[in-house]
Amino acid sequence: MRKPFVAANWKMHKNVQESVDFINQIKGKLPSFDQLEVGIAGTTLALHSMAVAAKDSDVQIIAQNAFKEFEGAYTGEISPKALADSGVDYVLLGHIERRTMFNESNQMVNQKVIATLQAGMTPIICTDETMVQKEHGGSVHYVFAQLMNVLHDVSFDQVKNIIISYEPSWAVGAGQHANPILAEEGCRQIRQTIADSYSYEVADKIRILYGGSVNPDNIEELMRKRDIDGVLIGRASLDADNFLSMVNTV
Ligand code: G3P
Repeated sequence: MRKPFVAANWKMHKNVQESVDFINQIKGKLPSFDQLEVGIAGTTLALHSMAVAAKDSDVQIIAQNAFKEFEGAYTGEISPKALADSGVDYVLLGHIERRTMFNESNQMVNQKVIATLQAGMTPIICTDETMVQKEHGGSVHYVFAQLMNVLHDVSFDQVKNIIISYEPSWAVGAGQHANPILAEEGCRQIRQTIADSYSYEVADKIRILYGGSVNPDNIEELMRKRDIDGVLIGRASLDADNFLSMVNTV
């Protein structure tokens, strides 16, 4: 059985105090860690304080980005080692907003995946596709190529613990109802790609999340799908009560 994972991606929202207040508000009200894992991707400056606030709880701390090197002359970059030292557990990599706004290529994402693993954290790798690709039947090839490139040099042992998130571009930030059938199809396709490239055993273990317009009205239906092991929630995760209500429906 794959343990469900509910993750919040706050993007560039909330200051340090607001982030800490949120953690204090939700901890103690979450289902047991044996049943469900909960993670929060806060802004970089808030991560250490969030980790301190989450210390006596099972809330997992997620960074939204990390660089491919641990240290050096890289003005403005975020060292994976510094993130790990700050108490970060997971790193979100390859999000569509980073790919489109900051020109991150598959190769760059792959280098960040390797560095994140070397720093002892777990990557949450985002994959995407557009409606044009889907409608023209190109998504199988696109998803396969994207995944294989970002997983280059990632071993069997390492890949088992990695999390993959499927975030189709038409659903991210769209406010539209996330279509559970398309969501499940994308996650299933990713699992099949892992089975073909690694093994069925690995594909069976790896957790695959869906992200894109998840909200309190659709989370239950999404989580009932066989190949969806969790969700990555943007806007709807910003309010603690809203977030708790979603976590508690899983
Ligand atoms: O990473 C989650 C995200 O991109 C989805 O955002 O606002 O559509 O839930 P949202």
